[in-house]
Amino acid sequence: MEFTVTTANPAQKKAGVLVIGVFERRRLSDIGARIDQATDGYLRGILANGDLDGETNTSLLLYDVPGIRARRVLLVGCGKASEFDRRAYRKVNAWVAGLLERSRATDALTCLPAIQVRGVDAGDRARVTVEATETRRYRFDEFRSEPNTPKHPLSRLALHVADGDDKAKAEAGIAHARSLAAGVHLARDLANRPANVCTPTHLAEQARALDQQYDHVHTTVLEESDMEELGMGAMLAVSRGSREPAKLITMSWQGAGPDKAPVVFVGKGVTFDSGGISIKPAAAMDEMKYDMGGAASVFGLIRACAELRIDANVVGLVPAAENMPDGAAYRPGDILKTMSGQTIEIINTDAEGRLLLCDTLTYAKRFSPDTIIDIATLTGACIVALGHHASAVLSTNDQLARQLMQAGERAGDRAWQLPIWDEYQEQLKSPFADFSHVGGQPAGTITAACFLSRFTKDYKRWAHLDIAGTAWTRGDSKGATGRPVPLMLQYLLDHHDGR
Ligand code: BES
Ligand code: MN
Ligand code: ZN
Repeated sequence: MEFTVTTANPAQKKAGVLVIGVFERRRLSDIGARIDQATDGYLRGILANGDLDGETNTSLLLYDVPGIRARRVLLVGCGKASEFDRRAYRKVNAWVAGLLERSRATDALTCLPAIQVRGVDAGDRARVTVEATETRRYRFDEFRSEPNTPKHPLSRLALHVADGDDKAKAEAGIAHARSLAAGVHLARDLANRPANVCTPTHLAEQARALDQQYDHVHTTVLEESDMEELGMGAMLAVSRGSREPAKLITMSWQGAGPDKAPVVFVGKGVTFDSGGISIKPAAAMDEMKYDMGGAASVFGLIRACAELRIDANVVGLVPAAENMPDGAAYRPGDILKTMSGQTIEIINTDAEGRLLLCDTLTYAKRFSPDTIIDIATLTGACIVALGHHASAVLSTNDQLARQLMQAGERAGDRAWQLPIWDEYQEQLKSPFADFSHVGGQPAGTITAACFLSRFTKDYKRWAHLDIAGTAWTRGDSKGATGRPVPLMLQYLLDHHDGR
């Protein structure tokens, strides 16, 4: 897919489709009004007929518009001009990306990036436009005999901006969006891949492939024997019921000098979660192939960092294992010794994610992280609390939680904070071990984070992202979303990029 930036008069440019924004009450955007002059008021005439008011998610496709060289004009509703902010701009672009896909045009010229948006410069506008197009273009065809790609896909999109200054900004925005898209696509591919293909061993191979593909990305993989030596009793217990050997994957992007402390990301990599001996009901169990969505997002983030060559050191840790019932599987009531030395009583073998994470969080100390963030499809309770719109952020550092929420807002990949007050810690009391690994029904997302917090005491900046509701969508577009790669990349750019 080719993206270009142009400042030339849109009326005089050839294009399969020319996209023009219209605000509510039939108000053409400024650039639209200029194009209308070339059409001798034709567009205004159409609007005066009342065919399009300008509400969001409405549009009008026109053919043979006089005075311009594009074959079709797509008038698209942008909502109220006074409410046209970053979110509204993102929404319109997503809507247009869908319309362009369904049109038969192979090239288009969009004037949306020329519209002023409160608090959003031309670079960000171009970025959002390209992100929306790339998100829409994604296909997962690996396992189909016939690819389901459209016959005449959009292959060129030109972005119209006001002047040369904006052109340079928009070009940088496009490069940014492409790097992010490369990361998001990788995350979606990995999470969409079925568990019979995407095993812990497969993830390890993918991590080695990133090492091969990019300078300054380095991968190492620990085997179960290494974990045994490290004393990772929790992680190994989860893997024991599976025929697939567990792997502990380390990927690092070295974009800054060796003295700069890294930001460490830990992604839950359960390649299939049957629940183990506390087996899950059959309904929707297929979705548990996405239980490595946290891991997938870490892969995607490392790739995006390498594509953008960001000036920061980033370490991605992925504990990968499969949770299965078997004669060797761990059981409810078992008591395990974690790498930290603390002992835990297993209540339910379906709470496996926190067991992978706790040992990996302990292991991460060797990287002396400036900040450490774990990402996991950890609790069904998170979907109850926040649905599919926001990831949950839980942190012992309020500043970090705020920074993550702000990054998510900016990237169109929202997160919302839940508390981890001491009162909730009470729920983890155990009569048999140092503590229990499940805190009962109430506040399941919070008590899971409370459990993790007992392994992160040495970190000043630790946060946990529960992405159970955001890592994939159900219904027609069922599949992986690639979230929260956009949030995490934005966070790195805002707070750790040395440039
Ligand atoms: N992977 C699941 C959480 C999950 C459920 C993610 C549904 C996405 C959709 C996790 O391993 C799990 O099973 N959690 C249990 C914890 C409980 C046993 C304390 C849950 O949420 O029911
Ligand atoms: Mn589970
Ligand atoms: Zn799980």
